Amino acid sequence: MRPRSLKLRAPRSSREWARYHTIRKHCLFEKYNGKGTQYYFEYDPDHPDESDPANHSLVFLAGRRVVGTIRIDIKPDSRAVFRLVAIDEGWQGHGLGTVMLTLAENYARDWGADTICLNAVPDAWRFYARQGFTPERWAGCTANPTEIPVVKHLYGPSNEEVFVPGERGDPRAGLQAAA
Ligand SMILES: CC(C)(COP(=O)(O)OP(=O)(O)OC[C@H]1O[C@@H](n2cnc3c(N)ncnc32)[C@H](O)[C@@H]1OP(=O)(O)O)[C@@H](O)C(=O)NCCC(=O)NCCS
Repeated sequence: MRPRSLKLRAPRSSREWARYHTIRKHCLFEKYNGKGTQYYFEYDPDHPDESDPANHSLVFLAGRRVVGTIRIDIKPDSRAVFRLVAIDEGWQGHGLGTVMLTLAENYARDWGADTICLNAVPDAWRFYARQGFTPERWAGCTANPTEIPVVKHLYGPSNEEVFVPGERGDPRAGLQAAA
């Protein structure tokens, strides 16, 4: 199916919360911090950071299906920190991550942020660089030497126009929407 709409919002049901945790656990923790990795630690869905009201847990929906997750932590100094950015396996590489990141930037801007900070895994470095992130250490950034702290400064009005991958107007020619 071709996604009819792409949205970023808070989970609204126990099913959406379950997808939020499953995608993060599977696409991030098991991949980068799983058993046998140097930086092993267990995914904890009840981590206190998840219930901090300044931290916004969000799901990315293609139609009614949750295909991605991000947490946006709004800091008092006009920074937003993006945490655990993931598109579910099977949906990766179709431009959906790019759309989710654009919607996340708009969301952060709406909450008063002028700077976005995150820790990139090397696999995703090119993905962030293409979206205007540059390497820079930031207050509270990772001490894990395998990750790359990056920053993006937001200037000008938000990019309200978001293209559905593979559809008319999509600047990434030749992309197919996830089947
Ligand atoms: C990184 C990620 C969010 C990007 O979303 P996406 O929908 O795959 O990305 P897009 O299709 O919009 O953009 C494609 C770019 O993302 C990167 N990418 C694609 N598949 C990827 C994958 N499986 N893992 C990491 N990066 C990937 C590539 O740099 C690709 O660039 P290319 O087209 O020049 O090869 C997604 O691939 C993902 O969830 N990966 C696993 C979890 C992860 O690494 N999260 C980032 C933590 S900092």
